[in-house]
Amino acid sequence: MAIMLAGTSMTAQGYAPAATDAAADEWAAKTEAQMTDDERFSILHGIMPILIGPYANPELKTKWPDDLVPGAGYIMGVPRLGVPSLRETDASLGVTNPFGIRKGDTATALPAGLAIGASFNPELAFAGARAVASEARAKGFNVLLGGGINLVRDPRNGRNFEYISEDPLLSGIMGAEAVKGAQSVGVVSTVKHFSLNSNETNRHTWNAEIDEAAHRESDLLAFQIAIERGQPGSVMCAYNIVNGAPACGNDHLLNNVLKKDWRYKGWVMSDWGAVSSADFAVKGLDQQSGQQLDKQVWFDAPLKAKLADGSLPRERLSDMVKRILRSMKANGLVDAGAAPAVDMKKHAEIAREIARQGIVLLKNNAGALPLAANVGSVAVIGRNAHVGVLSGGGSSQGLPPSGWAASIPIGGGEGSMASWRVERWFAGAPQAALKAALPKAEVRFDPGLYPQDAAALAARSDVAIVFVSKYEAEGFDSPDLSLPGNQDAIVEAAVAANPNTIVVLQTGNPVAMPWRDKVKAIVAAWYPGQEGAAAIADVLTGKVNPSGRLPISFPATMETQPRPTIPSYGTPDRTEVTVRMNEGSDVGYRWNASNGIKALYPFGHGLSYTRFAASGLKVDGSTASLTVRNTGDRAGATVVQLYLMGRGAETKQRLVAFQRIELASGTERKVDLNIDPRLLADWSGKGWTIPAGEYRFALGENAETVGPPIRVKMKQRTWRD
Ligand code: BGC
Repeated sequence: MAIMLAGTSMTAQGYAPAATDAAADEWAAKTEAQMTDDERFSILHGIMPILIGPYANPELKTKWPDDLVPGAGYIMGVPRLGVPSLRETDASLGVTNPFGIRKGDTATALPAGLAIGASFNPELAFAGARAVASEARAKGFNVLLGGGINLVRDPRNGRNFEYISEDPLLSGIMGAEAVKGAQSVGVVSTVKHFSLNSNETNRHTWNAEIDEAAHRESDLLAFQIAIERGQPGSVMCAYNIVNGAPACGNDHLLNNVLKKDWRYKGWVMSDWGAVSSADFAVKGLDQQSGQQLDKQVWFDAPLKAKLADGSLPRERLSDMVKRILRSMKANGLVDAGAAPAVDMKKHAEIAREIARQGIVLLKNNAGALPLAANVGSVAVIGRNAHVGVLSGGGSSQGLPPSGWAASIPIGGGEGSMASWRVERWFAGAPQAALKAALPKAEVRFDPGLYPQDAAALAARSDVAIVFVSKYEAEGFDSPDLSLPGNQDAIVEAAVAANPNTIVVLQTGNPVAMPWRDKVKAIVAAWYPGQEGAAAIADVLTGKVNPSGRLPISFPATMETQPRPTIPSYGTPDRTEVTVRMNEGSDVGYRWNASNGIKALYPFGHGLSYTRFAASGLKVDGSTASLTVRNTGDRAGATVVQLYLMGRGAETKQRLVAFQRIELASGTERKVDLNIDPRLLADWSGKGWTIPAGEYRFALGENAETVGPPIRVKMKQRTWRD
């Protein structure tokens, strides 16, 4: 990779080293002991400091604190004790600027989380988050509301584009690196949304029912891995309900699992508008965020009353405060100096690199790609391919330095997110990028309005590239996997007129693609971020050899999936619904394996312009090794995927290790992998158990195309978290 991703010395860039755990605990205890109760309560809740839009809080205008930075959240500090205010910004895909509140303020806009997941490259997750966090710091923020790692349980969920994958190991490892990258510049990062925020439909009243073991082996495992490796200063609890108790007032999830079993030392902040009682404090919530979105400032007067009547023990109050303070100290917020300047050019390169490594080549017949350097004429077809690339909507929506090329209010729908539902296209057009990459070719454009026009242009071009897209946004699911409008008809028309048709998807989810057998090649670009157009051109023209792998399964039909339709879809917002997660821990490819279902494109799938061969696989149950060789004629990267395929007679598929490796043509490398034992184990009240027996492991090109199994006899083993 051409750019330097990690490894640059933090201090050399001006970021002070954070305090040790012991120093953080000590400072938190000492400082908390000196606080008055009013000071203690003051840091347990805060506002969403936005003066325009639906969350306007004009009453604050008169007492707007000096150190406030308008954004997602603000919690005033205690200056006399050196406790800084918390200045929070959204973050997963770039520093956001909700409703343009910071006039003209732009930030690097990264590709979708799914693109980061598709790279299978933890270094890139680190680099992306570090870039975002350093911009956040330079703007005055010190908390990054990043680390969205909910597992993709439903391919229609409107927020999947913000998340990483359907797999706990991949999401956990990438989530951890994102946290580490952010916290390396002296800010706190969250992981969110804890837990099972798998759909946007009725997200405040959606009661996800799941067995404890299934939860521990899936979504909770992703959080556990991200937390133990990444040490986020804060965990954001979710809007939804889990087994009857709101996630932000869920004694079991917050107190038993997170704080007792996992010994988590940071603080739990609520999602914005997720608190409905002061009781949540006793159930494990430490801080109420965006308080004007809740019916009451529960963590002030009502919580004070609880302290007075004894239902909030004093030790718990101290614990809440100390958790916040220790994360501040541990991550350098207390001793923060001036923020170093940021290198926006380097950040743009990181955005481009994530897009490049996240793009997945789904299909490539007869070497349709890369485009021949001497191609004479290219038809670029599809809505907005002449202006920009699509981004996802909601609280993660960014405004890049080059701006939005188009901003289309979608409106409609209910709930607080309706006003955020604006379809935005980042400047940087695929048509122009292709033109620049193929200077000798004639690159013409058709907007994809009418099949006849698309067909006419395709017919008189050497190759037709159809850009199809599907806008997704926080607050909304889509009913199915179809592409909206007449986009399928446009592709059909183009390919009927010119068999040399290639489709580029810009989506935040899998899509159905009824024309997939007819077209020559399909490229999944997700929402590719501010440098997306150039990255797409890099891959189409072969400047970059594609290496992305699907972080989510593309289902052939929803009929065979755990929920063929979304429960309560289409009902008025906040309709109560209980949804049994009947797939349990068998999320995505695991479900397909257990039920003998073939995906349209499986998890882990992705093609390259070169070929790789693996040999000498050895697995002993806790480690594995093999040699990978690039047998093709150009440099490229592959992702080694090691799967557990089954135990004894049981089919039980689990990705147990992965590694992305880059190899020059004709070279090879030995790869060593560690297997996390939790992926072989069953969880029960006693902890994790690996039952004695025979375990089958296999290398996979993807979850469905796997090599011969290696059988390993394993002894029984039981351990606690
Ligand atoms: C989202 C969070 C976000 C928060 C603050 C909520 O709507 O669910 O992910 O961090 O808003 O903007």
